[in-house]
Amino acid sequence: IINMSELDLQGKRVLIREDLNVPVSDGVVTSDARLRAALPTIKLALEKGAAVMVMSHLGRPTEGEYNAEFSLQPVVNYLTKALECPVRLATDYLDGVEANVGELVVFENVRFNVGEKKNDEALAKKLAALCDVYVMDAFGTAHRAQASTHGVGLHAAVACAGPLLAGELEALGKAMDNPARPLVAIVGGSKVSTKLTVLESLSGIVDQLVVGGGIANTFIAAAGHEVGKSLYEADLIEEAKRLVANAQSRGGDIPVPTDVVVASEFSPTASATLKDVSEVTSDDMIFDIGPDSAEALSEILKNAGTIVWNGPLGVFEFDQFGEGTKRIAQAIADSNAFSIAGGGDTLAAVDKYDIADKVSYISTGGGAFLEFLEGKELPAVAMLESRGK
Ligand code: 3PG
Repeated sequence: IINMSELDLQGKRVLIREDLNVPVSDGVVTSDARLRAALPTIKLALEKGAAVMVMSHLGRPTEGEYNAEFSLQPVVNYLTKALECPVRLATDYLDGVEANVGELVVFENVRFNVGEKKNDEALAKKLAALCDVYVMDAFGTAHRAQASTHGVGLHAAVACAGPLLAGELEALGKAMDNPARPLVAIVGGSKVSTKLTVLESLSGIVDQLVVGGGIANTFIAAAGHEVGKSLYEADLIEEAKRLVANAQSRGGDIPVPTDVVVASEFSPTASATLKDVSEVTSDDMIFDIGPDSAEALSEILKNAGTIVWNGPLGVFEFDQFGEGTKRIAQAIADSNAFSIAGGGDTLAAVDKYDIADKVSYISTGGGAFLEFLEGKELPAVAMLESRGK
């Protein structure tokens, strides 16, 4: 794969695909992690003297129509403050756009274009015709084979990886391809069903698989305990048992919490009760792991060579159910292991417990991060490989 940093971009028209898909509320970006991650690539292209254009999707709008709710204008406002050059939002760019050295042109949401999601060839060719060099830097969207992430790269004169994408692949490769062991993965979040494939592939690779959140509830039920009114998936209990057996057959394990924090309602003011996992009653809802479980997991993390973290251990948005996630975040921060965190909720926890500079690498990917962990080939990366060195 060619890397943008190696190229001479002086006077060239450079079109960079970033993942600027960030949460926006009332016209203002509410989490800028992805924008901060994209800035060095944009700045580098500007410094290299290119006429720089950036494109991204935001959200999942209906194609073929403009919708202000999904406009990149809030992102343009952010970039205007973050960069020292003029930044301009272009709405009609498909049939030609004026891009000059010394300014940044941001294309309006690529998902407004008909054919973006189905990787339409004519659309991809139009995008390719706008530039001399196409830079794929959107790691967060690298698992999508769409016109702006894949098709355009097949038709552009030159297609290369941006430094952010290259950095993501290097860090994730270090964790997954030849990791310092023990390799410990923490997979939290609400449902087993949405993370089944990643749990499956990790249970065959890692030395310890730690499950948390609603996912852990299904494993608690699989271990024969009452989970009361907790979120769990009865139809995946057999699957959970199989995953545990798979991990154990390799000398690993998927430990189930020994103590849990329960409440009788899901609310910010619900009062938290600590229980042994065997004491959960039919009215309880499990919202966090207890201190003994957190301590045991911290011990596992202390000895890890590599830690991969996706998903919180409990309902950490409410402080009374956040202790488990907090303790684990702290244990990751204290560990000497090479650590990677990825996924929206995970990054919110990283921010809340202020461990960002103690995690070795923070991935900008959500779905893409999970697919990488599953060992799947990311279509945009495959496209760049096909374009050669
Ligand atoms: C993400 O937030 O995971 C990426 O930006 C991809 O978005 P998508 O799931 O709508 O394709």
